[in-house]
Order: sequence, then C-alpha cells, then structure tokens
Amino acid sequence: MSRRLVVAGNWKMNKTAAEGKALVEELKTRVAAVAPEVEIVVCPPFTTLGAVVEAAAGSRIRVGAQNVHWAPNGAFTGEISAEMLKTSGVEYVIIGHSERRQYFGETNATVNQRLKAALAAGLKPIVCIGESLEEREGGRTEAVLAAQLEGGLADLTPEMMQQVVLAYEPVWAIGTGRTATPEMAEATHAFIRGTLERLFGAAVAAGVVVQYGGSMKPGNARELVAQADIDGGLIGGAALKADSFAELIEQAALGHCGK
Ligand code: PGA
Repeated sequence: MSRRLVVAGNWKMNKTAAEGKALVEELKTRVAAVAPEVEIVVCPPFTTLGAVVEAAAGSRIRVGAQNVHWAPNGAFTGEISAEMLKTSGVEYVIIGHSERRQYFGETNATVNQRLKAALAAGLKPIVCIGESLEEREGGRTEAVLAAQLEGGLADLTPEMMQQVVLAYEPVWAIGTGRTATPEMAEATHAFIRGTLERLFGAAVAAGVVVQYGGSMKPGNARELVAQADIDGGLIGGAALKADSFAELIEQAALGHCGK
C-alpha cells in the first residue's frame, strides 16, 4: 500500500490560542512514537493558528486552516487569503466542509475557486465531500458525490490533483455519533476512487489520499482505516483532546499497517 496515512483534526470553532498551544504541546509528546510515515495535521481557528504554528515548530505536527478565500487580497471583509496562510506557516487547508456548505453558502463552484487559490499558493488542500441523510435515503449518494467531485475539482490537471487530499464525510455522521459502517464507508470510498479514475486517470486515482470523516473515534479508527480505500481521517470531536486524538492516530496507524 503506497498511499500515505493522513489524520487531521478539525477543531472547528474551538480553542483559544492558549488552549490550542497546550493541546499541541501535549500531543507532541503523545505521538512521538507513532510511525513516522503517518502525517498528523491539526486545523485550529484562524486566531489560534499563530500559537499552534509556534508550538508545533520542529515537531512532526503539521498545521492547517479551516478555510481560504480565492482572491489574493482586496475588499473581502472577514476573509483570509492563501498567501496569508502560507506565510503564517500553515501547510494544509480544509475546503468545502459540510458546515461551510450548510451554513455559509459554500457551493461546488466556490470550493473550486478556493481550491485553485490554495494550490497556486502551495498549500495542501483537504477537500470535503459528502451526502446528507436525505440524499442517502433518496438513493442519490453517488450522484451527489460525482457532482461535488466534478464541480469542486473542475479544471485541475492530474499534476494538481496529486497535491489534493479528499475527505469523504457523510453529513449524517458528523458530530452525531453515528458512523458509517466500515463496509458502507469503503463502498463509497471505492466509488470516489472510481470517479477520480474517470476524471484524472488510474495512476492519479490510485495515489490520492481519501480520508473518512464523521464520528471517527479511537474505537472505530482502526477498522475504518483498515479498509482498502480509506487513507486516514478528518476528525472533529475526538481531536479536541490530546489523549483521544493520539489514541485515534495510534489505532489508525495499526489499521493502515495491516493493509
Ligand atoms: P466529528 O466531525 O468527528 O465530530 O463527527 C468531523 C468533521 O466535521 O470533520
């Protein structure tokens, strides 16, 4: 299995700078023994990024933001550019999280604009896709995911796609304690990889890291990541404490090395 394992914590609107620093300090020691090929990312709110970049410096912990605007600068009150993130020591950025789509009007077209800006600045995007409960129950999961991939990844070259991490997060599993079964998640991940193959060719599709997200915890991470097409996780609630996040990372690493 040549794909990397990438486990990212999405802190959402949680943690002040002091709290974020404390979490990272503890996490650094907790994950020191985890296999070095496991990529560990934390994504704090904008105001906490600086403290976390500083706390993570020289460690294996990478830092990501939770959103990025597509314009390089200008009259966009409340927004942050890719260059601002890059020059702040940020490496990753989450794009198109379902909460952004649900509450802040994010569409596949704006995901695509943000994604291109992130790539142009040399950031590593984590692009989120996923269906709602209504869409799943209506048998529309694959159509929704295909549209999110075609629209969100529009105009990307195969070379650009190699820089992108995808996160499949069924909306009904986020923060609900309701996880997709490993088999159900794997079936959807396999569909996503098949769609990537159609859009970018087999070689690129085989190399793209596709994370699972939605109530991933220490207790289910190993089994989920043991699935052939699941290459890590995007973690909300369980990433807010160093103990549970470190334990989840250890479990995911066990699932990954068994493949
Ligand atoms: P959760 O959130 O782990 O709390 O379900 C995942 C996410 O929204 O990225």
